[in-house]
Amino acid sequence: MPQMNSVYRHREFGASLTTLADYERAGGYLGLKDALALTPDDALYAFHRSGLRGRGGAGFPMGRKASFLPKDTGRPTYIVCNADESEPGTFKDREIIERNPFQLIEGLTIAAHAVGCERAYIYIRGEYEAQAKVLDAALAEARDAGRLGPDALGEGRPFDITLYRGAGAYICGEETALLESLEGKRGQPRLKPPFPAVAGLYGCPTLINNVETLAALPPIMHRGPDWYGSMGPEKSPGTKIFSVSGHVLRPGNYEVVLGETTLRELIFTMAGGVRPGRHVKAVWPGGSSVPVIGEGSLDVPLDYESLNGVGTFLGSGGCIVMDDSECIVRACHRLAQFYRHESCGKCTPCREGTGWLARILGRMVAGEGRGAEDIRMLESLFGRISGRTLCALADGAVMPVKSALELFPEEFAHVAEHGSPAPAPMMGEPVG
Ligand SMILES: Cc1cc2nc3c(=O)[nH]c(=O)nc-3n(C[C@H](O)[C@H](O)[C@H](O)COP(=O)(O)O)c2cc1C
Ligand code: SF4
Repeated sequence: MPQMNSVYRHREFGASLTTLADYERAGGYLGLKDALALTPDDALYAFHRSGLRGRGGAGFPMGRKASFLPKDTGRPTYIVCNADESEPGTFKDREIIERNPFQLIEGLTIAAHAVGCERAYIYIRGEYEAQAKVLDAALAEARDAGRLGPDALGEGRPFDITLYRGAGAYICGEETALLESLEGKRGQPRLKPPFPAVAGLYGCPTLINNVETLAALPPIMHRGPDWYGSMGPEKSPGTKIFSVSGHVLRPGNYEVVLGETTLRELIFTMAGGVRPGRHVKAVWPGGSSVPVIGEGSLDVPLDYESLNGVGTFLGSGGCIVMDDSECIVRACHRLAQFYRHESCGKCTPCREGTGWLARILGRMVAGEGRGAEDIRMLESLFGRISGRTLCALADGAVMPVKSALELFPEEFAHVAEHGSPAPAPMMGEPVG
């Protein structure tokens, strides 16, 4: 069975299964066969029983979300696969699509059987042109082979998938902004409730899941939900891909069984550690929108609850590592600029607040800071932004800066008085 495990654990030796024949030879489509032998309700229960949680960021139980979709509404039910993958430091969905597109297509087909869907959409970020081509080819091949189309679910039940390319906006990864964009409107989040499960695409019941979540369904169905649920802690079962980037010698995607590997093992054993003579200064373990943690937290097991226990989140699994050569305030300024640029502008606290964060951090870094006054302004800004907006982008802008200030107060105070000591190392600079 082409579990993600076998493909990603030893990245350099992982097979690419980009043709349907290769995928089927590796055990592809056995999961769908097993799913189709179950009633839709039983398939849904299997999702639930596996304990699979959404891998896009929020970690919501997948089976529970799927069970929220109302049945027999007389309207179509849609599935939307979120392949927007714009969270800084996150590049796992890209590799799943590039190397194993049929596992995603099979996962979508299994989900379609469970929720009674005839049409799914994959919303892929605009910059993923090469990956969109891989998916286009895989979709065409699946259609030619009857894996998609009028009898994809057997007994004359149709199912097909439409690929939709975004235009490169971070906010279109937020599920309701994504739906707006898919409907041809400006990509801005909707007020919730109603949640997409009840009123999603074109107001119809819609299941939205991340690429990695959906790609986990084939092995779950074939090897059984209990097999999946037996891996890792009870509340965080299964495997998760971490994209490791930043100051490590072997950046890349690494799949681990949740709870079995520590952050230290991920960074040092798998990703090669930091440069000789350097030590880890800060880590964003779940993408740039989660609180940063320091060297003292490296022995935390990688699972949802353990990471919460050290004050951060598993998020998307985009693990950004920073060594002691970098200025934390400069890094926060870079992130603040990103969030200011990507704010959709719908809520005032986010539109204005992300601008203020970037301005204050920018003048601190440039040596034009106002000392303690700037630190006080930053602290007062956090509470004026967090929890006061339509979507979580604004919280994501605050959390890395707030946590960094708590972790490195002296460095912030120093930079607020004297500016940032040195430019950050350039991307691509030789390491080691
Ligand atoms: C600003 C913002 C950006 C997001 N970007 C993504 C993304 O690129 N990919 C993704 O799967 N989820 C993203 N999410 C989370 C989605 O809103 C949604 O929770 C997710 O697609 C649900 O799938 P899952 O349950 O399988 O994780 C983002 C959320 C926010 C607030
Ligand atoms: S929080 Fe920011 S990105 Fe989200 S809806 Fe409001 S303005 Fe837009």
